[in-house]
Amino acid sequence: MSLSLKPGFSFGGVLQKLYPEENLTRQEIILENSDEYWMAQALSKSMENGCAANPNPSVGCVVVLNNKIISSGCTERWGGKHAERVAFESLKVGDLEGTTVYVTLEPCTHVGKQPPCVELFRNRGISKVVIGSEDPNPIVSGNGIQQLKEMGIECKVGVLKTEVQAWLSPFFIQQRNHRPLIALKWAQSLDGCFADDHDGWQWISGIHSRKYTHWLRQKYDAILIGVGTLLNDFPSLDVREIQNQYKRDPLKIIYDPFGKIFQCTEQEQAILTEKTFKLGTKQIILIGTQVLLDEKEKNNKWFQFLKNNENFILQKINDNSENKMTNIIVESLKCKEIDEFLGRPLQSILIEGGPRLLSLFLQEKNYDVLHVFIAPFFLGGEKNKLFSKKQRALIPYIFRDVSKVERMKIVVQERLGNDILLEMVQEN
Ligand SMILES: NC(=O)c1ccc[n+]([C@@H]2O[C@H](COP(=O)([O-])OP(=O)(O)OC[C@H]3O[C@@H](n4cnc5c(N)ncnc54)[C@H](OP(=O)(O)O)[C@@H]3O)[C@@H](O)[C@H]2O)c1
Repeated sequence: MSLSLKPGFSFGGVLQKLYPEENLTRQEIILENSDEYWMAQALSKSMENGCAANPNPSVGCVVVLNNKIISSGCTERWGGKHAERVAFESLKVGDLEGTTVYVTLEPCTHVGKQPPCVELFRNRGISKVVIGSEDPNPIVSGNGIQQLKEMGIECKVGVLKTEVQAWLSPFFIQQRNHRPLIALKWAQSLDGCFADDHDGWQWISGIHSRKYTHWLRQKYDAILIGVGTLLNDFPSLDVREIQNQYKRDPLKIIYDPFGKIFQCTEQEQAILTEKTFKLGTKQIILIGTQVLLDEKEKNNKWFQFLKNNENFILQKINDNSENKMTNIIVESLKCKEIDEFLGRPLQSILIEGGPRLLSLFLQEKNYDVLHVFIAPFFLGGEKNKLFSKKQRALIPYIFRDVSKVERMKIVVQERLGNDILLEMVQEN
């Protein structure tokens, strides 16, 4: 992503949509013309089903006549109707005459689980179609626009393109790089602490940042945390704080290379069963091969419970591989069993900490997006920081020279309540 997003937009879409009751973001949405204004409405609309359309893109469409939206739609659940079909189906014959249709992604031209959307535009008297971004899918890319032009419809392409592509980033990464998007997320104090040194369980960020986090949990397919965080925080890792018609909880994945989870006390097992592992939500535990084969675990009742429970997969890690550790982790998630477990291909992973697991992904430069919340206070701790001493024992961290560091590119900078949200990507 070469450009920064306009104020008021983020990888989570239109920020104000998440806080309808208050004007929380410091920055007003600054739009340059009416096409941008209506495209922002279409992008906002595209967020209404969360990301229930995954692995299809969550697209939004608004139909405008005489400066008013006469109909709108967003993509339904995977396999359901696309945004344009939803927007057009409530209109009568002739209603589209003279309208401008704003759609965040180029209309599709192929038969998938739905017929091609581009045909919906034929002979309807539509004056103009404004498109946010071309579709990265090679079967569609450019063809939808070409066919609209052949129908004699004026087309404008690339309005709020960067903002649309940020919202649809898992789909774009999957189409272009054939792998899941990796997002890292954390909250820190001004001096870079993720928690205090007593390992007390307390939120670093405020309510508005947490609301945004819950929105991201719904956007991404899976959450990955380290077993250190699991056994310290017992997080629920579900989607709360937001209202949504298609609210969905992501898959929960725990990185536990040494099988620490199997050594839990009965009290810890009870809390896990109540919170993180509460039944009805699917989870995967990633562990190392030797632990799975370890004889002594065969007599461990808790191990047997997790192993035989249909809500869990104990996934092996190929820890003999020469590959980077983070690639091994991600590769181990790309398998038929996990796709079946999820009900669709895994398109994105949100890594929520703790600092040691995040350091590993940062050290190995294995990420697409960083979501960082900075809270305005100091903690003065040492333990729970990126590249802390504990981490350096696990991976030899080479101290870098300031003159040689690669700076990340800040794509979003917003105030959320009393915190600052920074969203960054790797430069180039
Ligand atoms: N502010 C935030 O956004 C945030 C988010 C999440 C968590 N936290 C805080 O972070 C703390 C827990 O984090 P943590 O850093 O201790 O643990 P963590 O990152 O959650 O877990 C890392 C786990 O991976 C294992 N591991 C093995 N090899 C590794 C390697 N090469 N690199 C990294 N990990 C490896 C570690 O094993 P071993 O234990 O055997 O070494 C450890 O159990 C808690 O206090 C929690 O509250 C804060």
